[in-house]
Amino acid sequence: MTPDLMEAGAQALAEHERRKAASTGASGASYGRVVRPGELDVAHGAILYLDDITVSFDGFRALNKLSLNIGAGELRCIIGPNGAGKTTMMDVITGKTRPDAGQAFFGSTIDLLRLRENEIAQIGIGRKFQKPTVYEQLTVFENLELALKADRGVRASLFFRLSGEQLDRIGETLQLIHLKHEAQRTAGLLSHGQKQWLEIGMLLMQDPKLLLLDEPVAGMTDEETERTAELFLALEGKHSLVVVEHDMKFVDQLTEGHKTVTVLHEGSVLAEGRLADVQANEKVVEVYLGR
Ligand SMILES: Nc1ncnc2c1ncn2[C@@H]1O[C@H](COP(=O)(O)OP(=O)(O)O)[C@@H](O)[C@H]1O
Ligand SMILES: [Mg+2]
Repeated sequence: MTPDLMEAGAQALAEHERRKAASTGASGASYGRVVRPGELDVAHGAILYLDDITVSFDGFRALNKLSLNIGAGELRCIIGPNGAGKTTMMDVITGKTRPDAGQAFFGSTIDLLRLRENEIAQIGIGRKFQKPTVYEQLTVFENLELALKADRGVRASLFFRLSGEQLDRIGETLQLIHLKHEAQRTAGLLSHGQKQWLEIGMLLMQDPKLLLLDEPVAGMTDEETERTAELFLALEGKHSLVVVEHDMKFVDQLTEGHKTVTVLHEGSVLAEGRLADVQANEKVVEVYLGR
């Protein structure tokens, strides 16, 4: 979840509490909105450009001169053993971790290393963490509504009336994330997989250009995993997706036999190519089977 969304959620929950207690006065503080820096420019085809990124933790290089290009509309799977630097890479892209060296651009003009975490979220980079973070006490619908409004920068409240267009968007998203029949359910009662979908739906309400998904199917049933792959394939093209995942069956379904897979190891790209090719790559086999 984005920092803005977390703030908006906390505020909406506080509003709920206030209503419940039927207390008076105390209007919620409004929160600041960051001015959008330049528009995203993908004229050269790349939505994300990482070059020579190095991140050190006490001398240990979690990322070691990592270079990576993601095309506009591309669905890229990233695999690699534990500790390869996959999550750290997402931390760099989203502004959570500052690299010691290197360059990171969103499109050809937006320098990510000059932006703060909430600014990066606002220019269209959405991130899904491993653990689902939805508002358990709110309904599925309310969670999406909240995400939609946070995007507009409107003072977060569940009591603003939605326009017809906004209702349509929520309806389409509910359909896409397979939660149409659960709209009025309390999010806390959903299955683990359904919570993951809801969080993806919340990200989609903010209409991100680039979605970063860290182990999105961990803990899902086989059927949920398959449906998640269908969902990502439906998003491909309209959005760019970077998916970190260990589940090779899932990666196989996403890459459809031809898309590029990137293998990370010790903070750099070890191999890149079609899944079948990287799986047959000796260096890759070696790092997966252990030294
Ligand atoms: N905040 C941190 N402080 C120290 N070491 C870290 C920190 N974050 C990650 N690391 C180390 O960096 C390496 C890469 O971690 P990570 O990016 O989480 O790998 P992956 O997601 O590929 O499993 C690991 O060895 C991890 O222990
Ligand atoms: Mg990780």
